[in-house]
Amino acid sequence: MCQATPAVVAHRGASAQRAEHTLGAYELALEQGADALECDVRVSRDGHLVCVHDRRIDRTSNGRGVVSELTVPMMSGLDFSGWRNPSGERGVLTLEMLLELVAGTSVKLFVETKHPVRYAGLVEAKLVALLARHGLAAPRDAESSQVVMMSFSSNAVRRVRQTAPRLPTVLLFDRMPNGRRSGELPSWADCAGPDIRLLRQDPGYVARAAERGHPTYCWTVDEPADIELCRRAGVRYIATNRPGSTRSYLVDQ
Ligand code: G3P
Ligand code: CA
Repeated sequence: MCQATPAVVAHRGASAQRAEHTLGAYELALEQGADALECDVRVSRDGHLVCVHDRRIDRTSNGRGVVSELTVPMMSGLDFSGWRNPSGERGVLTLEMLLELVAGTSVKLFVETKHPVRYAGLVEAKLVALLARHGLAAPRDAESSQVVMMSFSSNAVRRVRQTAPRLPTVLLFDRMPNGRRSGELPSWADCAGPDIRLLRQDPGYVARAAERGHPTYCWTVDEPADIELCRRAGVRYIATNRPGSTRSYLVDQ
């Protein structure tokens, strides 16, 4: 079945070419025609939402330590791009900076809250508060919302639905329990967020979710065979580390 072209979501920016979660990676993604950006967020010691995937900054910077034990000023002199493709940028990227990057554009931002048990609820509360300050927490409808909240944690998504009921949500998953195969999702999740490996086994999942009113956001889709699978299955959002080549592939179809 042939469907509408999926939107291209730059996963951690154009992260196959630039260091993930750096401004340079996101700027490149926009230059390459990404429709949307994805980022992971954690709370720093001084209460800022910072874009870091891991619990620690060791893999992605020349510093060391746990994000929640470091302040933004403590991370301001660190190099988060040198390990991949040095851009000379300094400091950790904050969610506020990403919001500024997409302000006034139609580019969507998919924000994944990482879910340290110790800080349960804090990340989501900070996210809703920050979006409220930017006038983004209560969009007119899901389609026009610039920001979409995502998590693997049911508790996290449910909490956001309770505090910001109009903010669209994605429930991420990398396993398909029997109860989910039908395409049904809990009432607090708008969009299904399967790992591409699940769709390789069961591409029909996308149509079943769509029949129940749930678009699909699939991650992480870098290979042409997987992009084609998503396109044919009717996936709405493709999260990729290679937004440029993914966009070119889709344009050529
Ligand atoms: O976009 C969802 C995807 O990012 C989830 O996995 O580990 O890359 O955050 P991870
Ligand atoms: Ca993520």
